[in-house]
Amino acid sequence: MTETDRAEPLPTEAAAEAGTGRPARQPAPASGVSDLRRVGANPDFWYPVARSRSVRRKRAFATAFAGERIALYRGESGTVHALEDRCAHRQVPLSMGVVEGDTLLCCYHAWAYRGDGRISRIPYLSKGDGRPPRGVRGYPVREAYGLVFVFPGDPDKAATTALPDLPAFGSPRYLTMTYSRTVRCHYSFLHENLLDMNHQFLHRGVVGRLRPELLDHRSDARSVEARYLFTHAGGKRSRGASLLAAEGIGGSDSRDLMTIRTEYPYQTLDLVPENAERPAFRLWAAYVPEDAEQRICHTYGLLMIEKPRVPGVLHLARPFIRRFTERVFAEDRMAVEAEQRAWDEQGEDRNHEVFSLILDVREVLRGNGVPLRPSACGPGAPRCLGATDG
Ligand code: FES
Ligand SMILES: [Fe+2]
Repeated sequence: MTETDRAEPLPTEAAAEAGTGRPARQPAPASGVSDLRRVGANPDFWYPVARSRSVRRKRAFATAFAGERIALYRGESGTVHALEDRCAHRQVPLSMGVVEGDTLLCCYHAWAYRGDGRISRIPYLSKGDGRPPRGVRGYPVREAYGLVFVFPGDPDKAATTALPDLPAFGSPRYLTMTYSRTVRCHYSFLHENLLDMNHQFLHRGVVGRLRPELLDHRSDARSVEARYLFTHAGGKRSRGASLLAAEGIGGSDSRDLMTIRTEYPYQTLDLVPENAERPAFRLWAAYVPEDAEQRICHTYGLLMIEKPRVPGVLHLARPFIRRFTERVFAEDRMAVEAEQRAWDEQGEDRNHEVFSLILDVREVLRGNGVPLRPSACGPGAPRCLGATDG
């Protein structure tokens, strides 16, 4: 993190002073980078990098965090380990390796790795042949909520950094649907997309005419929370949308309280129908950058839906809900990927943002993020921070 950038105002925030032509004043961001789309995700958090079921016993699995390739493998004991996906010998991906007991053998010359990345055996060397090289980086790993989380940052911070707390996940009242998708955009576009409910027009074909009214919002250094009142003002609404709002197949005119929160680096959404005590559904999402430039991210979502009183109904409703959420997600994906393409073409953030809530979440993401790693500035990465920013 040697590179710094000028605390230069963004064209985006300049729009907050609409029509004046003067840039708005911004405090120096903690990440040291002014263009949010050049701010890296802070690695000192637990990030999901795979669904648990994708990492099968005695198998390896390739994943990544911000350009760092990671090999996951599940040993015979059932424990998942995470290693740098590069053999210390000749850099062949360890995710192509073979699991033996709780060690991972590189597919090429069968050097054996322990779960912490140390080399336990080089099969063609005898004991007297000197010490083996140090091995590769091992990442702290945890499994929770059907996901494999790794801690890509300072390993000394892993033990004191909490996993997200999702009490509804294990609750018998809720059923969970899991989503795992790649989206070709910087993670910040996804935070903005979910928080800015003024984009319901985009979903008009699926949700009908939804009128969102921002009741209030607040923010601090780590989080932004917005509360909306949602009124369904007619129009065609999909069955899945009605089912998700706990209204049954037919749906009804309703008012729902929606609370959306970015608590760095995660995001949550709770929907409480009018007169209900508990959320009809709760969404938890993480946007995990895959590439070094962080223009592609993998989104993991857990949608926890309250079970209706009549058992089995939710099971029947599941395909409708799945189809509805997939359609909404496809529309959102279209929009955020278009935003990223525009950024790529223009080489900077020219969005004209006017919603104070979104200006706030940008500050949170900028303030908690980190500069992109220098490797993102190597050959072939002409737009890395410091090289051409500003
Ligand atoms: S490249 Fe991995 S053991 Fe040789
Ligand atoms: Fe959306």
